[in-house]
Amino acid sequence: MTEQGREQHGIPVIAIDGPSGSGKGTLSRLLAAKLGWHFLDSGALYRLVALAARHHAVSLEDEVSLQTLAAHLDVEFEGVDGGVESRIVLEGEDVTHALRTEQCGRDASQVAALPAVRQALLQRQQAFCVPPGLVADGRDMGTVVFPEAGLKVFLTASREERARRRYNQLNEKGMDANLQRILSDLATRDARDSERSVSPLKPAKDAVVLDTTGVTIDDAVTRILALWREVASKTR
Ligand code: DC
Repeated sequence: MTEQGREQHGIPVIAIDGPSGSGKGTLSRLLAAKLGWHFLDSGALYRLVALAARHHAVSLEDEVSLQTLAAHLDVEFEGVDGGVESRIVLEGEDVTHALRTEQCGRDASQVAALPAVRQALLQRQQAFCVPPGLVADGRDMGTVVFPEAGLKVFLTASREERARRRYNQLNEKGMDANLQRILSDLATRDARDSERSVSPLKPAKDAVVLDTTGVTIDDAVTRILALWREVASKTR
């Protein structure tokens, strides 16, 4: 961590990156709520572009049209509670549930591999960085979107454990779930997210890598809060 690298324009940022199902989402939301900070679910933005593409019958390979969609996304994050949104509205329609389907995740991974889409979403993501602070959840938060984040955490977990978590999450929401399908989808998505030419999924050089296999979300949150206190005490 560099001296000037502890804050983003004076606003503290914790960047949480990692593969699908590593626990980032739940953990980042909890962290934001505990700190009373804002929360960026950057994956939701890629999912929104994929959903908007379906709504407008735009092909997931049409990079130019997808870039336009991404740049003009008409989206509202509603019900802000301690910085954590609870409802996402796209073009006037509540898509909170639709965004979480496995199909939408697969589509999002595809559009996220397109450089023009990533570029179109960059400023929108950075605009989430407002006082008192931001917890940013994604794949390239520490490497590209918030390279000066005060704390960068890269979460990992075994693929089997990540698949089980996703399966349980979908079941809890009453959504269709098949463990084998989730496992093979995760393998495909891991490969695409890690091997794409722009902003591939990889830990920032100065990230703390945290393996959450067999670790509860609460324990992981406690660990990250301790890391943050360490960073904050050095900048005082
Ligand atoms: O975290 P998630 O499952 O909601 O993300 C959906 C897809 O979006 C995922 O396959 C990778 C992509 N993504 C990305 O490329 N960069 C981000 N910062 C966040 C998500």
